[in-house]
Amino acid sequence: MSTIVREGLGRPGGTLRAMPDATRHLLQLEGMSPATMRALLVRAQAFMQPGEKGKPLAGKTVATVFFEDSTRTRTSFVLAAKRLGAEAVDLSGSGTSLSKGETLDDTARTIEAMGVDAIVVRVKQAGGPHLIARAVKCSVLNAGDGKHEHPTQGLLDVLAMARAKGRAETFDLTGLTVAIVGDVNASRVARSDVIAMTALGAEVVLVGPPAQAPRSLGALGAKVERDLDAVLGRADAVQMLRVQFERHGGKGIASRREYRAGYALTTARAKRMRPDAVVMHPGPMNRGMEIDDAVADGDGIELPRSIVLDQVSCGVAVRMAVLERLLVGGPGDGPGDGLE
Ligand code: CP
Repeated sequence: MSTIVREGLGRPGGTLRAMPDATRHLLQLEGMSPATMRALLVRAQAFMQPGEKGKPLAGKTVATVFFEDSTRTRTSFVLAAKRLGAEAVDLSGSGTSLSKGETLDDTARTIEAMGVDAIVVRVKQAGGPHLIARAVKCSVLNAGDGKHEHPTQGLLDVLAMARAKGRAETFDLTGLTVAIVGDVNASRVARSDVIAMTALGAEVVLVGPPAQAPRSLGALGAKVERDLDAVLGRADAVQMLRVQFERHGGKGIASRREYRAGYALTTARAKRMRPDAVVMHPGPMNRGMEIDDAVADGDGIELPRSIVLDQVSCGVAVRMAVLERLLVGGPGDGPGDGLE
């Protein structure tokens, strides 16, 4: 397992210490075995089926603490915890004493002292969840840390794609090509996607302009290409990414028009995709920027199928599987078998 937290190919903050215990926390997909990924995905796929799920987390409390905005991740963690019988408390909207100068680890220890079994956290700083995991005894789940990783998003993207491509029994993605397009370098989603998808056998091609998809990203185990039109025709799935102006101010993007010309999944472009390919987007989408309305919604007989909302549904199931496994062990496991 890696002993560092990586942000892109650099090292955030310069302070790198041993990774906290992966049997208690979900901090990143880097270092997780394909067998563990598959076990989580199989369990999440079972949670996608109708029927009683039981209350394996009865008596447990899960706290969500988001220091960056979220619709999908925060809500789906709350729903996942509740559907398994846990109590869920969301501290995101109420503000925390960080604004009064309290440190992140003091805030986490304070939340834990109230009897919380798991803290789900989203922070701007890469490595923030790792810092918290070293400070507390309860489980810590990374819901997105800066540009580093978004591990449950990586798993849910695999689940949605595998279901769409008929791979949801084995989660063997061998022979599938996935294009991840746009602002790759700023994207924690892309990083977790590449790790999960390549670990399970897919070929991943990162496509974007030089500032958003530098060649150095090839070190993640993916190819880096500039010409979206050359890649589209061979992709089984195309994951579009939002341009994260809030992180880099649009550096390297001459104009919205030029970006769209090169890297948007327009209706005309989508018609050139393979008929059995699927369109993905982790959300939130900037309609009219990186993706056209009709493509996002899968409207039109000549357009590939959009699984954007399936990704959202899969998010609840993946978060149920992760919470269950960390807090009480998955089926056939004992508590503490964790996510290595
Ligand atoms: N995909 C994703 O992380 O969405 P939210 O920011 O809405 O959680």
